[in-house]
Amino acid sequence: MEPFRIKMVEPLAFRTADERRRILAEADYNIFRVPASDVTIDLLTDSGTTAMSSAQWGAIMQGDESYAGASSYGRFERTARELTGFPEIIPIHQGRAAERILFTTLLRPGQITVANTHFDSTRANVELLGCRAVDLPSPQAADIAVPAPFKGNIDLDRLRELLAGQDGERVAAVIMTVTDNGGGGQPVSLENLRCVREECRKYEVPMLLDASRFAENAYLITAREPGQENRTPRETARAMFDLADGCWASLKKDGMANTGGLLALRDEETAARCRELLIAWEGFPTYGGLAGRDLESLARGLREVIDPAYLAYRAETAAWFVDALAEAGLPMLRPAGCHAVYADAGALLPHIPPDEFPGVALVCELYRTAGVRTVEFGTLTLGHDGRPAPHELVRLALPRRVYTRSHLEYVVAAAREVAGRARELTGFTITGPQSPLRHFTARLDPLDPLDPEEGTDRS
Ligand code: F0G
Repeated sequence: MEPFRIKMVEPLAFRTADERRRILAEADYNIFRVPASDVTIDLLTDSGTTAMSSAQWGAIMQGDESYAGASSYGRFERTARELTGFPEIIPIHQGRAAERILFTTLLRPGQITVANTHFDSTRANVELLGCRAVDLPSPQAADIAVPAPFKGNIDLDRLRELLAGQDGERVAAVIMTVTDNGGGGQPVSLENLRCVREECRKYEVPMLLDASRFAENAYLITAREPGQENRTPRETARAMFDLADGCWASLKKDGMANTGGLLALRDEETAARCRELLIAWEGFPTYGGLAGRDLESLARGLREVIDPAYLAYRAETAAWFVDALAEAGLPMLRPAGCHAVYADAGALLPHIPPDEFPGVALVCELYRTAGVRTVEFGTLTLGHDGRPAPHELVRLALPRRVYTRSHLEYVVAAAREVAGRARELTGFTITGPQSPLRHFTARLDPLDPLDPEEGTDRS
C-alpha cells in the first residue's frame, strides 16, 4: 500500500465522452495541446508533478530569499554533498540548463559523447554545440518483452570498440543515464558502471551520470543485482556516484519537488567555469535560478526519496501496473522500472504502419475512452529524417505520490476497453508543423477507419 496518507486533495476533472471527442479534435489530436483541466488521470510525465510532503511545504515557509549566501542554499548544499559525495554543488533551475552549462564547459565542436541512451534534451544540448551524441544501449534492450534485470546498461563491447578505434580520441565524455528514460526507464547495474569507470580511466575520458532518477536506479540495484541486497538505497546511490567524475540531475524527478536541478562535480576548476556560465545564464551560484523556498523543498525531497519503504512501494506499484495492463491486453515493455511503464503500440496495432503513428493512435484512444493522458515515444517523437523509431512505445508515467492504486485500476479498465477494439483504431497524418521537436507542436488528423472487407488496402 501507499506508505503515506493524504492531507490535501484536488478534485479530478471528469468530462463526458462527447466532450473528450471534441477536446481531442480541438487539440488537433496532439495530447500536449489538451488542457490539463480536461484530463482525468494525467500520466504524461513524472517530471515536476510530484506531490510534496507536509515537511516540504512546511520548509517552504522557511525559505531564505537572500540573493547571496542564503541559508537555504547551505541546507541544499549539505544534503546534496552528503548524498553524492561530490564537493562542488551547483543548484540550477532544471536539468536541461545543467546540461547546457556542463556541455558548454566540456565539449568542443566535432567531439562525441557516448551514452546508454541520451535523453532528448541531453542529445539536443550536445548537438547544439556541434558535437555528436552516440547511443550504445545494451543489446538486451532491443527485445521489449525480455525481462532482463538491467536493460539500461551500456553495450560494453561497442563502447570499448569506439574508444579504441579511430573516433576514440574525439570522445569527450561517457554519460550513464540512471535510470535510462529513453530506453524504457530501465536501471543500470553497479557492475556495468564499474566497467565503464575502468574504460574511462584507461582512456582518460570523464564519466558522468545523468542522475535524474538516481534513487530509483539505486533501489533497483538493491532489488536485482546479486551481492547488493544488503546495502541500503542510500549506500548504493553513493556507490554509483563514487564511480563518476560528476553528475547532473533534473530534480523535478527524484528531487521530489516541482522544479529544480543540480550539477555536482569533483573537479574544482571545471566547477568554477560552470559557475561563470551559471551567473550569465541562471543566477548567482547560491540560488542558480531557483527561489530559496525551492532549495528548502529540494533539501527535504532528496532525503525523502531515498527512503527504502517509499522506493519499495514505487517499484512494486510499477511492477503491479505492468502486469495488470498486460492482463488487460496491452503488450508491455518488461520488466517494469519505477518512473513509468511503456506499452508496445506497434505490437497492439500491427495494422498501423510506423509512419501513421500507432503510438499516437493509442494515446488518443486512451484519452477519448477515459480522459487518461499518456505520451508517445515512437516515430512521432523519435523518428528522424523519415526513419521510423526502433519501437512504437507509449509511456504511462507515474507522478510521485499523486495517484493511488484505485486511480491506476481505472487506467487498467480503460486499457482493457481500448485493447478490446484495437483493430478498429486508425493511424494519423501530420498536417503541420514539421520540426525536430514536432511532437510538442504538431497538428494531426486521423486517417479513415479501415474497411474490414478491404483488408489493409486503403485505396
Ligand atoms: N535527463 C533525463 C533522463 C530526463 O528524463 C529529463 C527530463 C532531463 C534530463 C531534462 O530535465 O526536464 O528538468 O530539464 N525528462 C522529462 C520527462 C521531461 O518527461 O521524461 P528537465
